[in-house]
Amino acid sequence: MILVTGATGTVGRPLVDLLLAHGAKVRAVTRAPSAAALPDAVQVVEGDPALADDALDEVTALLLNPRALGRSADPQAVGTAAARLLDLARDRGATRVVTLSALNVDHDAAEQPSRLRGEYNKEVEAAAVASGLAWTALRSGYYAVNTITSWAAQIRAGDVVRGAHAGSTWAPLHERDLAAVAAHALLTDDLAGRRPVLTGPRSLTQPQMVAQIGAAIGRPLRFQEVPPEAAEQGMLRSGMPEALARGFLTLQARSYLQHDLVTGEVEQILGRPGLTFAQWADEHADAFRSR
Ligand SMILES: NC(=O)c1ccc[n+]([C@@H]2O[C@H](COP(=O)([O-])OP(=O)(O)OC[C@H]3O[C@@H](n4cnc5c(N)ncnc54)[C@H](OP(=O)(O)O)[C@@H]3O)[C@@H](O)[C@H]2O)c1
Repeated sequence: MILVTGATGTVGRPLVDLLLAHGAKVRAVTRAPSAAALPDAVQVVEGDPALADDALDEVTALLLNPRALGRSADPQAVGTAAARLLDLARDRGATRVVTLSALNVDHDAAEQPSRLRGEYNKEVEAAAVASGLAWTALRSGYYAVNTITSWAAQIRAGDVVRGAHAGSTWAPLHERDLAAVAAHALLTDDLAGRRPVLTGPRSLTQPQMVAQIGAAIGRPLRFQEVPPEAAEQGMLRSGMPEALARGFLTLQARSYLQHDLVTGEVEQILGRPGLTFAQWADEHADAFRSR
């Protein structure tokens, strides 16, 4: 039995499908079981975010999503909660844990927007390493799905996407590739004791990413660079907390032309090319179309 936390999320949902396709039994954790709409073959349990003891019955491997462990102002509390869950799981017979983490997990906190939001990848990763289970920490870069949060509203409203640092680059990672690596780590010993750094197959500037979304939806989209202060104001107007907006812009400023951020680890692990951003944009075109 494989326990998936964050099972309704960006990574968790495709992971559940992949595990089922491999013939694994899956128990999925969600705060809202009745709304989760998971496949019938999945055992759904409520976690809010603490789990009842019996959620660990027969569990041999766990996927820990730090976001699904709940937000807190106290990183140590989240690390302690993760350690307690893993102790219990180990005592019940689990042998493997895989955590979602981030490639910037050792960087300054100001460059980790997720940390500013109360998600503690570093503490959860440390709990996995100390757990006595065979552990894998998936240190990912920028998820392709972030473009929906950042740009979908602007794209629905017109053909121009305004943002800072046009030349900064990301290698957007398709969530299905990350889920496939997670499934591999949960089902085999190949990645035990490793922290693979996962990126998409190609580094792209923001204008290139916007153009690829335009191709997917059949519109001539273009990126217009604005000063970071103007971009920050836009983020604040859309409801983003100030610390998060600043963190994201700092991260973006530092990502200028870092073409070395294409690591090729997804391809090495899966033995096939990584999914491209163009393919991701085709699959998610509806998220950018006017309703
Ligand atoms: N976005 C990126 O570019 C990026 C890059 C590297 C690493 N990461 C890391 O990836 C992880 C996030 O993964 P993801 O994108 O798959 O997560 P996600 O889709 O945002 O969330 C996964 C699930 O967690 C539950 N959840 C959300 N907020 C919660 C909260 N406050 N308390 C309890 N449960 C909550 C929700 O499920 P229910 O509503 O069903 O309970 C949600 O479907 C984080 O550790 C993040 O730092 C992200």
